[in-house]
Amino acid sequence: MSEVSTSYQTGFANEFASEAIEGALPVGQNSPQRVAHGLYAEQLSGTAFTAPRHANRRSWLYRIRPAAVHEPFRPLAHATFHNRFDEAPATPNQLRWDPLPLPDAPTDFVDGLATLAGNGGPAEQAGVGIHLYVANRSMQGRYFYDADGELLIVPQQGRLRLATELGVIGIEPQEIAVIPRGVRFRVDVIDGEARGYVCENFGALLRLPELGPIGSNCLANARDFLTPTATYEDLDGAFSLVAKFQGALWEAKIDHSPLDVVAWHGNYAPYKYDLRRFNTIGSISHDHPDPSIFTVLTSPSDTAGTANVDFAIFPPRWLVAQHTFRPPWFHRNVASEFMGLITGVYDAKAEGFVPGGASLHNCMSGHGPDAATFEKASNADLSKPDVIGGTMAFMFETRKVIRPTRQALESPQLQGNYYACWQGIAKHFDGGAR
Ligand SMILES: [Fe+2]
Repeated sequence: MSEVSTSYQTGFANEFASEAIEGALPVGQNSPQRVAHGLYAEQLSGTAFTAPRHANRRSWLYRIRPAAVHEPFRPLAHATFHNRFDEAPATPNQLRWDPLPLPDAPTDFVDGLATLAGNGGPAEQAGVGIHLYVANRSMQGRYFYDADGELLIVPQQGRLRLATELGVIGIEPQEIAVIPRGVRFRVDVIDGEARGYVCENFGALLRLPELGPIGSNCLANARDFLTPTATYEDLDGAFSLVAKFQGALWEAKIDHSPLDVVAWHGNYAPYKYDLRRFNTIGSISHDHPDPSIFTVLTSPSDTAGTANVDFAIFPPRWLVAQHTFRPPWFHRNVASEFMGLITGVYDAKAEGFVPGGASLHNCMSGHGPDAATFEKASNADLSKPDVIGGTMAFMFETRKVIRPTRQALESPQLQGNYYACWQGIAKHFDGGAR
């Protein structure tokens, strides 16, 4: 596999329709007595049948064999990929990790998943799992699906080719992809090595945020989301189907490729988005808007305005606010914030937060610029704009506390001295002297 070749339909959760063989899609109905070309009809529902129309998501698949055709699943051990968020006490400490090293042994995308933290779980249909992945080879003879949540994949190094039931998605660092809950796929590693982040969303499906007074454009525009066209594998052989179900992995033998969907229509489908297309909004007078202004996608909770998870980014941008401390301010937050860095430098930290690394600031844990950043920005010349270029950081922000796993707290990548970045913050108080 040397390159990523794909074709896409544009829009977010549109009523897409695509057929790899002309005439495979039924016209005017979903499940005719006999589907063209000897295909089977199968509905894939991503929301309750009776979900409100604006939130209702399902697709109809026309495939060589139905998804039911496989041998029984048996438990599959995986040392590092799970949803056990109660193994270690949640800590109010600020935490930061160096990047996971790339593997020496042959490791595919599923092998290379390691769970860093999370909250909630698949049983309660709320919360997130936060995972890192490293890989140095494509999935060979096996396919994966996650029944517990949709997967938001954020590559940091190396391109991926995501061959899914509904078509093929190619992504590179600074692009993201979302694989819906239940959709079967295979990950091919294009550049020999790959590393990145995964948010496993157990809650309501990710959607575009409301724009309120911003209006009908900006932030992530719907037309920049890409969903693949139908393509299929007609392969017989000895394959493995790996399922994630209720926090654990299972494996079944399957005698054909499950990526055998010849045509499909509907609004429940994988998609990709290039983060560089995000239309960033900011202050043109003084102060900052809250960082919700950087939200790309949101998974709402049952409480209005309080997300199960927001996916936000910190892309290149101009800072022009006058008589203002321009970097992100000191703050504490009722929500919990997991951050990663895809490329470049994040403007609130002078050092220690590197591409592929991660930080976690939980509910009400104080954080903000380090001492060096504070001193520099407090004395900056505000007559000129600052240009933040060549960077892309992101955040998974959740309403529930993000609980690190035991392996994350025992990891050699955990930085023991992260707290020190604030210890040099000087006392400037003048005692009220006039
Ligand atoms: Fe924060």
